[in-house]
Amino acid sequence: MSELYDGLNPYLITDRLPVSIIGTDIDYYDTLSSTNDVAREKARNGVAEGLVVLAGEQTKSRGRHQREWKSPSGNIALSVVLYPDVKRLSYLVMMAALSVCRAVEDITGLKPEIKWPNDVLVHGRKVCGILIENELKNGACAAVVGIGINVRINPADYQDIAGTATSLENEAGRDISRVDMVRNLLVNLDALYNRADDSDTFIEWREKLVTLGKPVSVMWNDTRLDGIAESVDESGVLEIRTQDGTLHTVIAGDVTLRQSTSGK
Ligand code: BTN
Repeated sequence: MSELYDGLNPYLITDRLPVSIIGTDIDYYDTLSSTNDVAREKARNGVAEGLVVLAGEQTKSRGRHQREWKSPSGNIALSVVLYPDVKRLSYLVMMAALSVCRAVEDITGLKPEIKWPNDVLVHGRKVCGILIENELKNGACAAVVGIGINVRINPADYQDIAGTATSLENEAGRDISRVDMVRNLLVNLDALYNRADDSDTFIEWREKLVTLGKPVSVMWNDTRLDGIAESVDESGVLEIRTQDGTLHTVIAGDVTLRQSTSGK
């Protein structure tokens, strides 16, 4: 689809958008270093909750664990400023991944899955990464929820992610409107944020987890843990059973699905 018909026009996105917090206001930039960096700066200055920082492309986009995130034009890169109470922080991970899944399913008809904690996959390849960063200021908490969705990227053009990533257009085999995607995503984020104590969100998130019941390796700092991903609790903590029968709880890390079924 040409940029002319699918420019990320913030007025088209917010026009009669049924939201009450997330997406009531959008700051749009054609090019930006990182939407998370700009959103964090705005949060430090006390901007209103729900502001979305949206970029056509990013030049210094960051992923989890200080990795680079590819963010050329044609994809979606946005960050939302929130001021949740501390007990809701873990909920943001589920809320963000689930909202992306709903938007992908509604707009493309594809069936996305979640790799714990919040990578969104289509046909086993990553289409979306989520980076949540928190700021504590005078005892109050600001959270920036950064979401990057591969819409138009051709993974074959990027050697380092060619085998693990994909894009919505690549999988759907047709043009996907970024305006429709962003509108749907914001409506879902807003709806889920407004009922943050609802355990249905956790249940829906857990049902989409491709990780459960599978042999996995988890890397956390320099430590590697191999076992079976047995369960998740309501705060999103992953429980892994190693071959000696011990149950380990994992609150953060990088999960790789393994082929073996031995649990070794
Ligand atoms: C990951 O899977 O490693 C997370 C990737 C997060 C990328 C998004 S794009 C919008 C926001 N701005 C950034 O600099 N990063 C996040």
